[in-house]
Amino acid sequence: MEQAEIGIFGGSGFYSLLDNVHEVAVHTPYGAPSDKLAVAEIAGRKVAFLPRHGKNHQLPPHMINYRANLWAMKELGVTRIIGPCAAGSLQADVKPGDFVVVDQFVNRTWGRNDTFFDGPITTHMSAAEPYCSELRRLAIACAKRQGITVHEQGTVVVIQGPRFSTKAESREYSKNGWEVINMTQYPEGWLARELGICYVNIALITDYDVGLEGHPEIQPVSHQEVLKVFNDNNERLRNLLFAMIEEIPPVKHCECKSDLF
Ligand code: ADE
Repeated sequence: MEQAEIGIFGGSGFYSLLDNVHEVAVHTPYGAPSDKLAVAEIAGRKVAFLPRHGKNHQLPPHMINYRANLWAMKELGVTRIIGPCAAGSLQADVKPGDFVVVDQFVNRTWGRNDTFFDGPITTHMSAAEPYCSELRRLAIACAKRQGITVHEQGTVVVIQGPRFSTKAESREYSKNGWEVINMTQYPEGWLARELGICYVNIALITDYDVGLEGHPEIQPVSHQEVLKVFNDNNERLRNLLFAMIEEIPPVKHCECKSDLF
């Protein structure tokens, strides 16, 4: 089977411009991934792309087979994953168009298959530092070099969706000091760690969730707004990803490993 070194969860915007893309259908013990994986060479590195919502955006966040997506990456030999996503802001100083390289998540999803360790082997892995420190440093350095407004840390609260939050829910999250809100970061990033794959998230801020106190002109988020702001920033995100791909050190210098592999 086609092999790849680096994985990216992202839309077709990232590989539609590349030549020589090989599509690979991967079967996993957990069922089918969101779509075929597209493997291409960028800066001499083999990269596998997988649109987490499917090519036609047919999978809402709670219907994504996260385990199959991560397992498919592992099958191709991927050891590092970049997982950009659209996200809302919960704090005034984190503005639409900013990028956040989150370092913590809070899981507020339910009913998702969020582990590969269903038995008979029992293990309890630490999730204290769920993101790869080396890839996070690289994302921050590349973003700064490209003049992107980047927040060097942040907590993402991951909600079940598909609805957005109520004002009361959003107030709770903001009061807790969390910066970012999204629907897919859990269990995607965590399952990578369970497989010993380095994972970094780049949250592209598309909105202020339910609005912003003292700013009645800022309306609660809509799906159309998320898509528009994400598309408007597609090129900036793609440039950041390409720079990162070029610079990911061939050998890991981080703590990311599974208890089992
Ligand atoms: N994705 C983008 N914006 C979001 C928001 N406000 N809440 C949840 N997920 C999002």
